[in-house]
Amino acid sequence: MSASNIPATHREVRLASRPEGALDSGHFTVVEVPVPRPGPGQVLVRNSLMSVAASLRTLMKEDVGMPLPSFEVGRPLSAPAVGEVVTAPEGGTLRPGDPVTHRAGFREYAVVEADAVRLVDLTVLPDPVAYLSQGSAAWIGVVRGAEVREGDTVFVSGAAGGLGTLAGQFARLRGAGRVIGSTSSQRKADYLVGTLGYDAVVLRGAGPIEDQLRKAAPEGIDAVVDTVGGEQLRAALALARPGARVGLVGALSAQVAGESTAPVEIDTYSLIVRGIQLRGISGARHRDALAEYPETFGRWIREGSVTVPHTRLSGIDQAPRALMELLEGHHIGTVVVEL
Ligand SMILES: NC(=O)c1ccc[n+]([C@@H]2O[C@H](COP(=O)([O-])OP(=O)(O)OC[C@H]3O[C@@H](n4cnc5c(N)ncnc54)[C@H](OP(=O)(O)O)[C@@H]3O)[C@@H](O)[C@H]2O)c1
Repeated sequence: MSASNIPATHREVRLASRPEGALDSGHFTVVEVPVPRPGPGQVLVRNSLMSVAASLRTLMKEDVGMPLPSFEVGRPLSAPAVGEVVTAPEGGTLRPGDPVTHRAGFREYAVVEADAVRLVDLTVLPDPVAYLSQGSAAWIGVVRGAEVREGDTVFVSGAAGGLGTLAGQFARLRGAGRVIGSTSSQRKADYLVGTLGYDAVVLRGAGPIEDQLRKAAPEGIDAVVDTVGGEQLRAALALARPGARVGLVGALSAQVAGESTAPVEIDTYSLIVRGIQLRGISGARHRDALAEYPETFGRWIREGSVTVPHTRLSGIDQAPRALMELLEGHHIGTVVVEL
């Protein structure tokens, strides 16, 4: 792609209205608009791949105090994307043709500040999808939230999601003795056990999670990466052994319904007596835990000890469907859209 081949128009996905409850196609519009022109210090990128995730549902609400700003009605949505530099500022380090990643997905062409794009280096992370994955959040959840140690029994809630599929694998490679996940269907449970090496899986909607977890972890749980909250968190706390570490990483049970709070009733007295450590984990506060992440994740992918589970849809007009289906629990792993 060179500057002389830039088309006059491209497509982008905009937020048509703020959803209350479940998303439907009426909350999005796909519009054809002129390709934007970069200003001084900006890069024009032809996006090739983007990812969607449950956190986008939260950003559709007005000002919820997330580290990223909420989406505006009538404006394009944004999400992590990978693409190729078309034009870059004179004298900078970026060149046309460079593969880069940034946060301006949901559009075929993006204008991004040069200091907001990162080079995609396939010699470090050998798969572009890895750049769009929740790998860094999963790493922080395992290393800082659950602080997984040799021989631990680990519980990952939301184990079939973008973060959970990687957290379970990272926990195992950091020495976990037994890894248990939660998900919503037998199809996903079979994948977690058969392909990702989980030892056991509990299913929401198949009876009390606590009873299922007690069977899966009769000796109790040492470390938790919780991406769900609600019943999954209550069950994890009931089974937590003395001194267990519980990383609160996500609140899918509330988030997918569009809620901005995720209340859970817990018996604090029992947590105090057992010395359970509950840690709220915001990735933005733990960047220092990522020093070894890219090289280690890349090496594990190359060795075949980690896979980056993902579902792939094609075409920008499929991006709204990708997000709706993700929130309804149709997919496994990171959900990406080819643009
Ligand atoms: N703290 C941080 O810095 C940080 C960073 C990144 C992400 N996060 C958070 O971590 C969580 C996981 O992120 P993700 O990208 O891995 O999620 P995701 O893959 O986008 O989540 C989609 C999954 O949510 C599950 N789900 C749907 N309805 C549910 C319900 N009622 N109860 C429980 N699960 C439900 C479904 O999985 P099943 O069918 O398997 O149930 C679905 O596949 C999110 O809350 C996200 O915001 C936090």
